[in-house]
Amino acid sequence: MNSYKGREYGFDQPTLLESAIFNVHVKITIGLTIVFICTLNVQAENGHNLWLRAKSSASVIVVCSMKSATTDIAVQELKQCWHGKKDATIVLTVKHNPSIKGDGFEFGPDGIQANTDLGVLYGVYELLRRQQSAEPIEKEISNPSYERRILNHWDNLDGTIERGYAGHSIFWRKGNDAWRVTEKDKRLWQEYARANASLGINGAVLNNVNASPDMLNTETLNRVKAIADVLRPYGIRAYLSVKFSSPGLIGGLKTSDPVDPEVTQWWKTKVEEIAKLIPDFGGFLVKANSEGQPGPQDFGRTHAVGANMLADLLKPYGGIVMWRAFVYKTSGEDRAKQAYDEFMPLDGQFRDNVIIQAKNGPIDFQPREPFSPLFGALETTSVMPELQITQEYLGQSTHLVFLAPMWVEFLQSDTYQKGEGSTVARCTDGSNFPQRFTAIAGVANIGLDSNWCGHQFAQANWYAFGRLAWNNRLTSDRIADEWIRLTFPRHQSDQSKTRNVSDWQERFLLPVKHMMLQSHEAAVNYMMPLGLHHIFAGDHHYGPGPWYAPTGLRADWTPPYYHQADTNGIGFDRTRTGSNAVRQYREPLCSQFNELETCPEIYLLWFHHLPWNHKMKNGRVLWDELCYRYDAGVRQVREFQKLWNQIQPYVDEQRFTEVRSKLRRQCRAAQIWKDGCELYFQQFSRRPIPADLEQPVYDLKSLEELDFSTIDEFEN
Ligand code: GCU
Repeated sequence: MNSYKGREYGFDQPTLLESAIFNVHVKITIGLTIVFICTLNVQAENGHNLWLRAKSSASVIVVCSMKSATTDIAVQELKQCWHGKKDATIVLTVKHNPSIKGDGFEFGPDGIQANTDLGVLYGVYELLRRQQSAEPIEKEISNPSYERRILNHWDNLDGTIERGYAGHSIFWRKGNDAWRVTEKDKRLWQEYARANASLGINGAVLNNVNASPDMLNTETLNRVKAIADVLRPYGIRAYLSVKFSSPGLIGGLKTSDPVDPEVTQWWKTKVEEIAKLIPDFGGFLVKANSEGQPGPQDFGRTHAVGANMLADLLKPYGGIVMWRAFVYKTSGEDRAKQAYDEFMPLDGQFRDNVIIQAKNGPIDFQPREPFSPLFGALETTSVMPELQITQEYLGQSTHLVFLAPMWVEFLQSDTYQKGEGSTVARCTDGSNFPQRFTAIAGVANIGLDSNWCGHQFAQANWYAFGRLAWNNRLTSDRIADEWIRLTFPRHQSDQSKTRNVSDWQERFLLPVKHMMLQSHEAAVNYMMPLGLHHIFAGDHHYGPGPWYAPTGLRADWTPPYYHQADTNGIGFDRTRTGSNAVRQYREPLCSQFNELETCPEIYLLWFHHLPWNHKMKNGRVLWDELCYRYDAGVRQVREFQKLWNQIQPYVDEQRFTEVRSKLRRQCRAAQIWKDGCELYFQQFSRRPIPADLEQPVYDLKSLEELDFSTIDEFEN
């Protein structure tokens, strides 16, 4: 749905189109002008302005001796969003400082210094953010944790988005004007670029990992050039997902074998064409030999041979290859083990401009997974985390789930690669072993919806990804705090202007932050507590389906494969006597996960198949504990509803109402999850749901009969 309605007025940079609108305004009648202004006011809080809604409260003097498109933006941002002392002087300097890394910066109350123009722009955004979120501004250096901080858009060339829940693509559309680049397109891309730059995101893969070969056609590449031209001043490089069989599919070659000289030549010519159009082209993202996508193994070659061929061609242009480790087959081997088994023997065989892109968990962006053992295992191959910002498995754009706590849990997990303290963060940001390139990717949740992300609070996940990509040691609390202050600023949102700061903090900031920080755990509770995973219905990954197992479907695409529930118990045995997936973790983790006494309960059923009467640490039996967790999840969402109702006076009408209605739907969904899972598993546990808990309100048969093919059907 194309519901982009144009942005609000007041503080963004004026664009050509905006100036044109202004000129038209002057000429049209007063009546029309009033109508127009009223329309803008109605849309004024649709959320389109994200966390970038501040307008200057005072004037500022900016001294900047450099002149580039990027520094021009820096100057303009300072002038338009300044919240510091009136008529203060800010000096922007590009000067080499060995303590500043990459596009890092030094900032303080009087100015910003960086090694690059982009560093200056990032410094400006940091300064403005601190002003707006009332944080102290002292002289400080801020360096990025990862060199490449990239959004992965799963956007198809026809404008649809795989696992997109916020409308169609901002980059692609089908129809007669699919290739025409309009002023509206450019304005939207510019707003997108600005939002990313404000967080330090410096790359965007513009198309789906399940890539169409048409991505590499000349008319598509011309559009990529137009996008890249708009993104460039904001420091964002364009990257493309490519289909490995493109030489055969669109090049007319008989094969796409990576060692065939004609195939290599075809890719070389393609890379040259791209580099001519987009001199700062970032590189390729490749999903190969995964879920039916073609890859080098189709020709008897390894992942390394395929990746290196592309990497060699991109190297002269500074490009990289992000080669995905999301591989699994119907081999009968535990799916959680397969990526490790396939990639570990290749460690050391990849070029230095190849980075293995691995999802945070070993399966697939589940509500909770232990970290993928590839982190901390690969030692001579660069590896980068892939996080999923779009909430494919976490309530999509209906549920309020703040993902920072999940990502922090992952980044701070200890792999023991070089002894204690070898967190995933350190294994991927170059601290533990040298990597020529360091990177992190997030699967974007952005579409044409007026609020970009489908849910007002889903914006916080885009924000959190960017902030963690810049600084992988930030806490969830800090990120949530910043985001709330910027997105619902007190002076703007609080309808009763009489309330003071401490009242606002106590009655708005803290409760909303509390809700955000609890929201991931709540979702885990009402969907998949205690290490359960992948018990979704069918393909849409929204509702519950522990029973879902159509005849003929490959087992590892059905929930019973993952929960293994039977009258003896529940859970996937990945211990040494089971699939032995634990051996892929280093000691002491391997033993910790293997032993019941030490396995963290949040991963219990991920690693163990246990009898229903297994004694938990709190003394309850497993079945009861499962019921308590489901129950807790539903109660948490009800609390969120209450909390949100209480903050009404502090939020504008439109965003308040939208979030309220989504919370209602989330409540219903949580109830369905709880009832469906409890009643289904009860058939095996043959135990009562503890009497002090609320009993199911749905019956299993009716839930099983719903095919959940559309969320609306599920909720009505
Ligand atoms: C998940 C998702 C797919 C996606 C795949 C991937 O399986 O459901 O839509 O293509 O991940 O990451 O490649």
